[in-house]
Amino acid sequence: MWHFYSPNIVYGEDSLNFLENIKGNKCFIVSDKVIEALGYIKIVTDKLDKIGKAYSVFTDVIPDPHEEDVMKGKEQCIAYAPDLIIALGGGSVMDTAKGIWAMYEYPDYTLDNINPFSDQLYDFANKAKLVAIPTTSGTGSEVTWAAVISRFENEVWRKMGLIHMSLVPTFAIVDPIFPIGMPQKLTVNTAFDALAHAVEGYVSSWRNEFSNALGLKAIELVFKYLPIVYKDGNNIEARDFMHQASTMAGLAFSNSQVHLGHAMGHSLSGVISIHHGQAVGLFLRYITQYCLNNPVEPNDSIEIYSNIAKKLGWAKWEDKPKDAAYRVLEKIKELQKEVKFVTNLKDLGISREEFDQNLSKMISLCYQDASSVMGPRTPNKEEFTNLYKYAYEGKDIDF
Ligand SMILES: [Fe+2]
Repeated sequence: MWHFYSPNIVYGEDSLNFLENIKGNKCFIVSDKVIEALGYIKIVTDKLDKIGKAYSVFTDVIPDPHEEDVMKGKEQCIAYAPDLIIALGGGSVMDTAKGIWAMYEYPDYTLDNINPFSDQLYDFANKAKLVAIPTTSGTGSEVTWAAVISRFENEVWRKMGLIHMSLVPTFAIVDPIFPIGMPQKLTVNTAFDALAHAVEGYVSSWRNEFSNALGLKAIELVFKYLPIVYKDGNNIEARDFMHQASTMAGLAFSNSQVHLGHAMGHSLSGVISIHHGQAVGLFLRYITQYCLNNPVEPNDSIEIYSNIAKKLGWAKWEDKPKDAAYRVLEKIKELQKEVKFVTNLKDLGISREEFDQNLSKMISLCYQDASSVMGPRTPNKEEFTNLYKYAYEGKDIDF
């Protein structure tokens, strides 16, 4: 038996209009100051005014949200007592909204109560439904049952994964009107988050036919449309497909799991402030090569990556699996080069001193991240050390 979790998804141009079809008249909008400054909150509140729904706005979400911010939002949400929570923003906003939602339903909860073993959480969404409206194309949080919130512990910001199937938003409104305003660098970084979700989800040990179908399509769409939106951010059709790709990749990994790239990326961002998409996208080539180089026989990664290459037309059906599998690595490198994605830690401006000081902390955080063991090959301490060191220098993985 297996489950596939998904919200009701409304996508494409004008999908924001679907708000009028959603029951509920008192909306608690969770967002941030950047989204407010971009005028996106006004787009939504104008719509709510038009259809006669009341609202209160909480804009105190910060990037890589902290536990304290969620608790602050929870108090305001409880005071307003909405019947709809609208998350308008990127992954940080949507993750914060999920935490607020859970603790609005169960005010006695702390973040520690939000875990897969909480039976009580299955009785959920009795006070409010959650409508997730992503403004970036990458995190997929609008469809996932996870939220990442940071807690300060042992001198580092540990990224806690809040996980429960009830955290899947009730509705995801995936309207390209919002990501069309993303600057080029954010467009690229968030796209590589989506690509990492799709590839890692396709390779994860919990992969399944539903996640594979969505992951493969998401990879195809990112490769086709990222170069277009990179050159022309105003191309609404390409933005629409990138937005759909991000949601598909979210569904894929949410129903299979990410692995090493996310464990390493979360750990990096826990000690050095690096954008999530930049971090996980950067590690994608290194962890792909690490999996492909697995010396065990048979090496499952070869078959899996070979499938990606052959199904997407990057290799011929008659090609040897190993040749086809390594073609995926080449395609990732080519795409990164085409959109000028930063591919090593040194070029991100991290000094050697800062890197050396934080290396053991990052490895320690990797061991606390369940994603570390979800891939086809799990590094030991020496391999984690070398994966980070090679990623710092930009060296091909030769182990
Ligand atoms: Fe991610």
